[in-house]
Amino acid sequence: MNIKLKIWRQKNRDTEGQFETYEVKNIHSDMSFLEMLDVANEQLIHEGVEPINFDHDCREGICGACSLVINGEPHGPEKKVTTCQTYMRSFEEGETIVVEPFRSHAFPVLRDVMVDRSSFERVIRSGGFISVATGAAPDANAIPISKEIADESMDAAACIGCGACVASCKNSSAMLFVSAKAAHLNLMPQGKAEKSRRVLNMVDTMDSEGFGNCSNTYACEAACPKGISVNFINQLNRDYALAALTNKL
Ligand code: FES
Repeated sequence: MNIKLKIWRQKNRDTEGQFETYEVKNIHSDMSFLEMLDVANEQLIHEGVEPINFDHDCREGICGACSLVINGEPHGPEKKVTTCQTYMRSFEEGETIVVEPFRSHAFPVLRDVMVDRSSFERVIRSGGFISVATGAAPDANAIPISKEIADESMDAAACIGCGACVASCKNSSAMLFVSAKAAHLNLMPQGKAEKSRRVLNMVDTMDSEGFGNCSNTYACEAACPKGISVNFINQLNRDYALAALTNKL
Protein backbone atom coordinates (compact mmCIF):
# COMPACT_ATOMS: atom_id res chain seq x y z
CA MET A 1 0.00 0.00 0.00
CA ASN A 2 0.96 3.66 -0.49
CA ILE A 3 0.16 6.32 2.08
CA LYS A 4 0.77 10.01 2.73
CA LEU A 5 2.53 10.80 5.99
CA LYS A 6 1.78 14.23 7.43
CA ILE A 7 4.30 14.37 10.24
CA TRP A 8 5.60 16.95 12.72
CA ARG A 9 9.18 18.10 12.03
CA GLN A 10 11.03 20.17 14.62
CA LYS A 11 14.81 20.68 14.89
CA ASN A 12 14.98 21.00 18.67
CA ARG A 13 13.05 22.18 21.72
CA ASP A 14 13.91 25.85 21.02
CA THR A 15 12.72 26.02 17.42
CA GLU A 16 9.21 26.06 16.04
CA GLY A 17 7.97 22.95 14.33
CA GLN A 18 5.70 22.39 11.37
CA PHE A 19 4.01 19.53 9.54
CA GLU A 20 5.66 18.08 6.44
CA THR A 21 3.95 15.65 4.10
CA TYR A 22 5.76 12.72 2.49
CA GLU A 23 4.50 9.99 0.20
CA VAL A 24 5.53 6.58 1.49
CA LYS A 25 5.39 3.78 -1.05
CA ASN A 26 5.42 -0.01 -0.96
CA ILE A 27 4.16 -0.50 2.59
CA HIS A 28 2.90 -3.97 3.46
CA SER A 29 -0.34 -3.98 5.43
CA ASP A 30 1.26 -6.41 7.93
CA MET A 31 4.04 -3.95 8.76
CA SER A 32 3.90 -2.30 12.15
CA PHE A 33 3.58 1.48 12.31
CA LEU A 34 7.24 1.77 13.33
CA GLU A 35 8.33 -0.46 10.43
CA MET A 36 6.43 1.92 8.15
CA LEU A 37 8.43 4.81 9.66
CA ASP A 38 11.63 2.83 9.01
CA VAL A 39 10.64 2.51 5.34
CA ALA A 40 9.75 6.21 5.25
CA ASN A 41 13.17 7.07 6.66
CA GLU A 42 14.96 4.88 4.09
CA GLN A 43 13.10 6.77 1.38
CA LEU A 44 13.96 10.14 2.95
CA ILE A 45 17.65 9.25 3.29
CA HIS A 46 17.65 8.14 -0.37
CA GLU A 47 16.18 11.55 -1.30
CA GLY A 48 18.74 13.41 0.81
CA VAL A 49 16.19 14.49 3.42
CA GLU A 50 16.93 14.31 7.16
CA PRO A 51 15.22 11.16 8.53
CA ILE A 52 12.39 11.46 11.07
CA ASN A 53 13.45 11.14 14.71
CA PHE A 54 11.07 8.96 16.70
CA ASP A 55 11.38 7.10 19.99
CA HIS A 56 11.28 3.30 20.25
CA ASP A 57 13.00 0.48 22.06
CA CYS A 58 11.36 -2.90 22.67
CA ARG A 59 8.81 -2.84 19.81
CA GLU A 60 6.86 -5.37 21.88
CA GLY A 61 4.51 -3.10 23.85
CA ILE A 62 6.63 -3.30 26.99
CA CYS A 63 8.91 -0.26 27.27
CA GLY A 64 6.48 2.60 26.56
CA ALA A 65 8.96 4.48 24.38
CA CYS A 66 6.93 4.66 21.16
CA SER A 67 5.08 7.84 22.01
CA LEU A 68 3.20 9.10 18.95
CA VAL A 69 -0.17 10.74 18.40
CA ILE A 70 -1.61 9.18 15.25
CA ASN A 71 -4.64 10.80 13.63
CA GLY A 72 -5.30 12.66 16.89
CA GLU A 73 -5.09 9.64 19.19
CA PRO A 74 -2.14 8.61 21.37
CA HIS A 75 -0.87 5.27 19.96
CA GLY A 76 -3.37 5.48 17.09
CA PRO A 77 -6.81 4.09 16.31
CA GLU A 78 -6.60 0.64 17.95
CA LYS A 79 -7.57 0.22 21.60
CA LYS A 80 -5.19 -1.19 24.22
CA VAL A 81 -2.15 -1.32 21.95
CA THR A 82 0.99 0.75 21.70
CA THR A 83 2.24 2.42 18.53
CA CYS A 84 4.68 -0.44 17.95
CA GLN A 85 1.75 -2.90 18.10
CA THR A 86 -0.31 -0.87 15.62
CA TYR A 87 -0.33 -2.34 12.13
CA MET A 88 -0.73 -0.66 8.77
CA ARG A 89 -3.82 -2.76 8.05
CA SER A 90 -5.60 -0.32 10.41
CA PHE A 91 -5.26 2.35 7.71
CA GLU A 92 -6.67 2.77 4.20
CA GLU A 93 -4.78 2.65 0.92
CA GLY A 94 -3.82 6.23 0.00
CA GLU A 95 -4.80 7.58 3.43
CA THR A 96 -3.12 10.69 4.83
CA ILE A 97 -1.92 9.73 8.32
CA VAL A 98 -1.23 12.62 10.68
CA VAL A 99 1.55 11.99 13.20
CA GLU A 100 2.43 14.33 16.06
CA PRO A 101 4.48 14.14 19.25
CA PHE A 102 2.78 13.73 22.64
CA ARG A 103 1.77 17.30 23.53
CA SER A 104 2.38 18.46 27.09
CA HIS A 105 4.29 21.26 28.78
CA ALA A 106 5.92 18.54 30.90
CA PHE A 107 7.02 16.58 27.78
CA PRO A 108 9.08 19.08 25.74
CA VAL A 109 9.77 18.08 22.14
CA LEU A 110 13.41 17.04 21.68
CA ARG A 111 13.29 16.63 17.91
CA ASP A 112 10.50 15.85 15.41
CA VAL A 113 8.11 13.46 17.20
CA MET A 114 10.49 12.54 20.02
CA VAL A 115 9.69 14.06 23.43
CA ASP A 116 11.52 14.28 26.75
CA ARG A 117 9.59 12.26 29.36
CA SER A 118 12.22 12.52 32.10
CA SER A 119 9.56 14.29 34.22
CA PHE A 120 8.07 10.79 34.71
CA GLU A 121 11.47 9.56 35.95
CA ARG A 122 11.59 12.38 38.50
CA VAL A 123 8.11 11.42 39.75
CA ILE A 124 9.28 7.82 40.20
CA ARG A 125 12.50 8.92 41.94
CA SER A 126 10.42 10.90 44.44
CA GLY A 127 8.60 7.84 45.77
CA GLY A 128 8.00 5.02 43.29
CA PHE A 129 10.19 2.49 45.09
CA ILE A 130 10.54 0.52 48.31
CA SER A 131 13.54 1.71 50.37
CA VAL A 132 14.48 -1.60 51.99
CA ALA A 133 15.61 -4.88 50.47
CA THR A 134 12.48 -7.03 50.13
CA GLY A 135 14.31 -10.30 49.50
CA ALA A 136 13.93 -12.78 46.67
CA ALA A 137 10.94 -14.78 45.45
CA PRO A 138 10.90 -17.23 48.40
CA ASP A 139 10.66 -14.27 50.82
CA ALA A 140 7.77 -12.78 48.86
CA ASN A 141 5.97 -16.13 48.90
CA ALA A 142 6.31 -16.26 52.69
CA ILE A 143 3.92 -13.30 53.06
CA PRO A 144 0.28 -14.24 52.46
CA ILE A 145 -1.47 -11.86 50.05
CA SER A 146 -5.06 -12.34 48.93
CA LYS A 147 -5.70 -13.10 45.26
CA GLU A 148 -7.83 -9.94 44.92
CA ILE A 149 -5.07 -7.67 46.23
CA ALA A 150 -2.38 -9.42 44.20
CA ASP A 151 -4.50 -9.08 41.03
CA GLU A 152 -5.18 -5.39 41.69
CA SER A 153 -1.51 -4.69 42.28
CA MET A 154 -0.60 -6.51 39.07
CA ASP A 155 -3.21 -4.49 37.15
CA ALA A 156 -1.57 -1.28 38.39
CA ALA A 157 1.92 -2.64 37.65
CA ALA A 158 0.90 -3.10 34.00
CA CYS A 159 1.53 0.65 33.47
CA ILE A 160 4.48 1.01 31.07
CA GLY A 161 4.89 4.76 31.66
CA CYS A 162 4.35 5.70 28.02
CA GLY A 163 2.57 8.98 28.80
CA ALA A 164 -0.51 8.39 26.62
CA CYS A 165 -2.64 9.35 29.63
CA VAL A 166 -0.96 12.77 29.69
CA ALA A 167 -1.17 13.22 25.91
CA SER A 168 -4.90 12.40 25.86
CA CYS A 169 -5.83 14.66 28.78
CA LYS A 170 -6.99 18.22 28.08
CA ASN A 171 -5.25 19.23 31.33
CA SER A 172 -2.07 17.20 30.69
CA SER A 173 -2.76 15.38 33.94
CA ALA A 174 -0.42 12.55 34.92
CA MET A 175 -2.81 11.20 37.54
CA LEU A 176 -3.35 7.83 35.85
CA PHE A 177 0.39 7.19 35.65
CA VAL A 178 1.13 8.40 39.18
CA SER A 179 -1.82 6.55 40.68
CA ALA A 180 -0.84 3.27 39.00
CA LYS A 181 2.80 3.59 40.07
CA ALA A 182 1.78 4.40 43.65
CA ALA A 183 -0.93 1.72 43.83
CA HIS A 184 1.15 -1.24 42.75
CA LEU A 185 3.46 -0.59 45.69
CA ASN A 186 0.87 0.71 48.19
CA LEU A 187 -1.26 -2.42 47.85
CA MET A 188 1.59 -4.76 48.83
CA PRO A 189 2.57 -5.33 52.47
CA GLN A 190 6.19 -4.52 51.54
CA GLY A 191 5.11 -1.11 50.20
CA LYS A 192 2.57 -0.08 52.83
CA ALA A 193 5.12 1.23 55.36
CA GLU A 194 6.09 4.12 53.06
CA LYS A 195 2.63 4.70 51.63
CA SER A 196 1.98 8.20 53.04
CA ARG A 197 5.42 9.54 52.17
CA ARG A 198 5.23 7.96 48.71
CA VAL A 199 1.85 9.47 47.89
CA LEU A 200 2.68 12.97 49.17
CA ASN A 201 6.06 13.08 47.42
CA MET A 202 4.88 11.67 44.09
CA VAL A 203 1.87 13.99 43.87
CA ASP A 204 3.93 17.02 44.88
CA THR A 205 6.59 16.17 42.27
CA MET A 206 3.88 15.62 39.65
CA ASP A 207 2.54 19.12 40.37
CA SER A 208 5.96 20.77 40.34
CA GLU A 209 6.76 19.15 36.98
CA GLY A 210 3.86 21.07 35.43
CA PHE A 211 1.28 18.32 34.95
CA GLY A 212 -2.31 19.54 35.26
CA ASN A 213 -5.15 18.39 37.45
CA CYS A 214 -7.53 15.52 36.81
CA SER A 215 -11.04 16.64 35.91
CA ASN A 216 -12.57 13.17 35.51
CA THR A 217 -13.05 13.06 31.74
CA TYR A 218 -11.65 9.49 31.64
CA ALA A 219 -9.75 10.28 28.40
CA CYS A 220 -6.66 8.76 30.05
CA GLU A 221 -8.31 5.38 30.64
CA ALA A 222 -9.58 5.33 27.03
CA ALA A 223 -6.09 6.06 25.64
CA CYS A 224 -4.09 3.78 27.95
CA PRO A 225 -2.55 0.91 25.96
CA LYS A 226 -2.59 -1.25 29.08
CA GLY A 227 -6.18 -0.56 30.16
CA ILE A 228 -5.24 1.01 33.52
CA SER A 229 -8.44 1.90 35.39
CA VAL A 230 -9.28 5.39 36.68
CA ASN A 231 -10.19 3.64 39.95
CA PHE A 232 -6.51 4.00 40.83
CA ILE A 233 -6.94 7.79 40.65
CA ASN A 234 -9.74 7.53 43.25
CA GLN A 235 -7.42 5.49 45.46
CA LEU A 236 -4.63 8.04 45.07
CA ASN A 237 -6.95 10.94 45.93
CA ARG A 238 -8.12 9.13 49.08
CA ASP A 239 -4.58 8.20 50.09
CA TYR A 240 -3.31 11.73 49.44
CA ALA A 241 -6.12 13.34 51.47
CA LEU A 242 -5.50 11.00 54.39
CA ALA A 243 -1.72 11.47 54.27
CA ALA A 244 -2.06 15.26 54.04
CA LEU A 245 -4.54 15.34 56.95
CA THR A 246 -2.38 13.26 59.22
CA ASN A 247 0.81 14.70 57.69
CA LYS A 248 2.28 11.31 58.36
CA LEU A 249 5.79 11.29 56.91
S1 FES B 1 8.69 0.42 21.48
FE1 FES B 1 8.46 -0.42 23.50
S2 FES B 1 6.32 -0.21 23.87
FE2 FES B 1 6.53 0.41 21.80
